[in-house]
Amino acid sequence: MHVLVTAGPTREYLDDVRFLSNASSGRMGYAVAAALRDAGHAVTLVSGPVELPRPDGVTRVDVETTGQMRDACLEALPGCDGVIAVAAVCDYKPAAKIEGKITKTGGPVTFEMIETDDVLAEIGRRKSPTVWTVGFALEAANPRERALQKLRAKNCDWVVVNGPHAIAAETNAVELIGPDGGVAASWEGTKADVARHLVAWVERHHGDASD
Ligand code: CTP
Repeated sequence: MHVLVTAGPTREYLDDVRFLSNASSGRMGYAVAAALRDAGHAVTLVSGPVELPRPDGVTRVDVETTGQMRDACLEALPGCDGVIAVAAVCDYKPAAKIEGKITKTGGPVTFEMIETDDVLAEIGRRKSPTVWTVGFALEAANPRERALQKLRAKNCDWVVVNGPHAIAAETNAVELIGPDGGVAASWEGTKADVARHLVAWVERHHGDASD
């Protein structure tokens, strides 16, 4: 199979030098990319800024903003059999980026923020019906219900749900939510362990004899 993986955070710039982002290390997404490669699959890894080396044998496309991630994913999508979206995408961006550098005024500043593109939802709308997709959801409360809502809203086959402890951690504990909202599987261990379980799962459910 050829699988598109998104990983890492995105950045949204307030001005030419300052941006909003999050603490995602990219480790989970990179572990998924490496596990797919180790299982013999072709991988296009669309990655936000992270301090991780490119996994050998993986095609990495470096992006910074959510808009760039969207464009890179839509370009790669036609050649892919499946998508695993692990990126911690910035949900908001300034309504207008300020040219140059914001200078202090001595008082508070207010920014109007608008939602960024939802990369996985757009993949879900545009993909061919044969392309399977897996989302990741980071949930602090009602994880299973919220994961199911995301599965439906983004047209995913599966959603891997994890908690805030996963951000920038070495290990992870996840549940895999299926289209009926039930827990189809649960895995824990290092991010490499979880990634191997996930890859074996998609191979069992979406692979074919020629893979
Ligand atoms: N995702 C995406 N583009 C976005 C937001 C999220 O592609 N703009 C993807 C993530 O990579 C992940 C899934 O959607 O696979 C769920 O991400 P999450 O941040 O949990 O959900 P949101 O849709 O952002 O909802 P909220 O933050 O309100 O919980």
